[in-house]
Amino acid sequence: MPTLAAAEASNAAFAPNYLPVAVFVGGTSGVGQAMAEGFARQMKGHAHIIIIGRNATAAAEILAAFPKPSKSDGWAHEFVPCDASSMADVRAVCEGLSARLVYINFLVITAGGPAANSLVASSVTPEGLDDHLAMRYFMRYIFTKELLPLLVRARENGQHAHMMTVLGAGFGISIPTTDLGLHEARRRSIKILQGVTPSIAAVKGMIRGVAYNDGLVAHFASLHPEIAFTHIMPGQVLTVGGSKMGGLGWLLAPLTWLLNLFKASISITQDESAQYMLYGLLDGDRGLFIRGQRGDVISAHVFNPDHKAHFDVTAHKTRTQGVLRGVPMKGYGGSDASVAGLIAYTESVLAAI
Ligand SMILES: NC(=O)c1ccc[n+]([C@@H]2O[C@H](COP(=O)([O-])OP(=O)(O)OC[C@H]3O[C@@H](n4cnc5c(N)ncnc54)[C@H](OP(=O)(O)O)[C@@H]3O)[C@@H](O)[C@H]2O)c1
Repeated sequence: MPTLAAAEASNAAFAPNYLPVAVFVGGTSGVGQAMAEGFARQMKGHAHIIIIGRNATAAAEILAAFPKPSKSDGWAHEFVPCDASSMADVRAVCEGLSARLVYINFLVITAGGPAANSLVASSVTPEGLDDHLAMRYFMRYIFTKELLPLLVRARENGQHAHMMTVLGAGFGISIPTTDLGLHEARRRSIKILQGVTPSIAAVKGMIRGVAYNDGLVAHFASLHPEIAFTHIMPGQVLTVGGSKMGGLGWLLAPLTWLLNLFKASISITQDESAQYMLYGLLDGDRGLFIRGQRGDVISAHVFNPDHKAHFDVTAHKTRTQGVLRGVPMKGYGGSDASVAGLIAYTESVLAAI
């Protein structure tokens, strides 16, 4: 587990011999913002940095503060608006980026928002997705799948190629095989208690999102062993979105207040967290990484690039939880069978949107 100084020193050594392209989905606030800022500072502005979110005003302020090199070597700092809870919007953004970018070196996804973090409310998006899973999982899946060819291109160029999803790695939560979209859980939740006490469907949405992200990185890492895929836990961070617990409903308001006090007492700043997240981002070369809040590796598996097809998790139906293609992975919740089930389900759901 690196100290902050060690993480900063490692990040400071990052000096690629090409112009890096980095995309931060959720770069308009919180950990994603601090990662984009840290990356811009490290590169002294010499990078193509794209921050994605909804808040154009916040984005303009963040981008204006990036170092602006006088030498024009292709550097660019831009904001791309996107409502990531809409899969149609996510697809349109990916299409736009794919049409004009040659490669992407770093794809970082941090966007959450209040709906995805609520413990008391669960609803369905206009596209029919559980609102927690839309932000915690489905949009991350589409961004990864659609932008993957650009990461592959970066790797073919001999450059860094790393996809990172910042959510809640390391818990080893199993991926279930039934009610993957949580529609049954929502049907069973008592509507009259919505907002009053924690909702089973909302809590399940929080937990499932974490488990599904393990499946997401395992699936894509197994298909593309030449690229790095990371699911990382930021820990407790004082961000605008994360500085307060979503609330436990008005019945448990005093408990929420106490938990918020406790959370504040153990949280670190978003800049500090970003140094650990960047450490994880710049450290992994290829393979699957489950990382903790200091960027430390909880478990990893580096595939042999010569055996690309061999590592398709969908082709192997081992049911042992926490094992990826025969390799035990600490803090990883998938089994080859449950990941295959999740991916089949995801593809069928997204095909209908
Ligand atoms: N902070 C913590 O203590 C903590 C703890 C554990 C896990 N996490 C997880 O770590 C990640 C980062 O946390 P955070 O606190 O920095 O983030 P956050 O406050 O949950 O998310 C803020 C970012 O999400 C974007 N966002 C929210 N809804 C969006 C939407 N519909 N479309 C596009 N962008 C949207 C916001 O952009 P706009 O406002 O511009 O739309 C902003 O850039 C999240 O996944 C969070 O769940 C955080």
